[in-house]
Amino acid sequence: EDPTSLPLRPPVVTIMGHVDHGKTTLLDYLRKSSIVSQEHGGITQHIGAFSVQLSSGQQITFLDTPGHAAFLSMRQRGANVTDMVILVVAADDSVMPQTLEALKHARAARVPFIVAINKIDRPEANINHVKSDLAKHGVELEDFGGDVQVVCVSGKTGQGMEDLEENILLLAEMLDIRADPGGMAEGWVLESTIKPIGRVATVLVKRGTLRPGDYVVAGRVQAKIRSLRNEAGVEIDEAGPGMPVEVLGWKEPPEAGDMVLQAPDEGRAKAAVRYRQELKERGDVIGQME
Ligand code: GTP
Ligand code: NA
Ligand code: MG
Repeated sequence: EDPTSLPLRPPVVTIMGHVDHGKTTLLDYLRKSSIVSQEHGGITQHIGAFSVQLSSGQQITFLDTPGHAAFLSMRQRGANVTDMVILVVAADDSVMPQTLEALKHARAARVPFIVAINKIDRPEANINHVKSDLAKHGVELEDFGGDVQVVCVSGKTGQGMEDLEENILLLAEMLDIRADPGGMAEGWVLESTIKPIGRVATVLVKRGTLRPGDYVVAGRVQAKIRSLRNEAGVEIDEAGPGMPVEVLGWKEPPEAGDMVLQAPDEGRAKAAVRYRQELKERGDVIGQME
C-alpha cells in the first residue's frame, strides 16, 4: 500500500525541559485555548496527554513529559511515541541539567525538536543568553543558520503561543505524519490509574480506531472496552490515530509503557494473554505481537 495515500493524523508532541521551566503552565495554556475545553466550560482533567483542537480545525496531541520509566520502556522497544519534542527553556534560568537530559533523549530517539524559550515576560529574561547557551551545546538554531526553530513564549501571558502552534504545524507538515485508521488498532499505554469509575488507562492510538466493545490486550491484561473518554472526561464513540484516550474496562490495571493491541474477538484476546503469561513463566521478553 502507498503510505502517502493514508490520511494525515494529528502530530504527537512531547513537552520536555528542566524542572520549573514552565512545561505544565504551557500545556495548561494550550489546553484552555483548545476548542474542546471551551466547549466544556474549561473544566479539564489533569491527565498527561490531551489533544488541542485549533480554530482551524487542526489538532495537535500533547504529552507532558511522561514518567521516565514508561518513556524509556517504549523507546527500548523501538517506539517513537512522539513525533516531535518541545524543549522548554526558561529565559531567566537558561540551560540547566534536565534541559541537556531532554536534549539527549530527543537526539537518541532521533526526534526533531523545537525550542520554546519561556517566561519572556519576566524582567530577568535573557533570550540571547539562552540562545548562546544552546549553541554552546550544539543546538543549531535557525537564528545562526541551523534548522532548529526557536519560539519565544510566555505560558503566563500567552505571548507567542500562536507562533508555537504554527511552528508545530509547520514541522508536522514537513514530517508528513500519516496513519491508517482502519484495521486492528495499536497503541501505547501512557498512564494507568484507578479512579472512582474504575481502572483507567490513557492510551495513545497509533493506528486503527478504538471503539467501545472492542477487545484489547496490553501486556498480560485484557479489556473489553466499556467506554472511551477524552481529556475533558466526555465519553466519545471512537479514537483514531494520534488521539490520546482514556480506556475503561480492564480486568487488571495495564502498565504504562505497554503496547496495546486490538484482538478480533474475546477468544483471541484471552489466547494472547495466556500466551504472554506462558512466555513470562518461561522468562521470555514480550516483544511485538506474536
Ligand atoms: P515541573 O513539572 O515541576 O518540572 O515544572 P514545570 O516545568 O511544569 O513548571 P510549571 O509549569 O509548574 O511552572 C513553574 C513555575 O513557573 C510556576 O510558578 C509557574 O507559575 C511559573 N511560570 C511558568 N511559566 C511562566 C511564564 O511564562 N512566566 C512567568 N512569569 N512564570 C511562569
Ligand atoms: Na513545577
Ligand atoms: Mg510540570
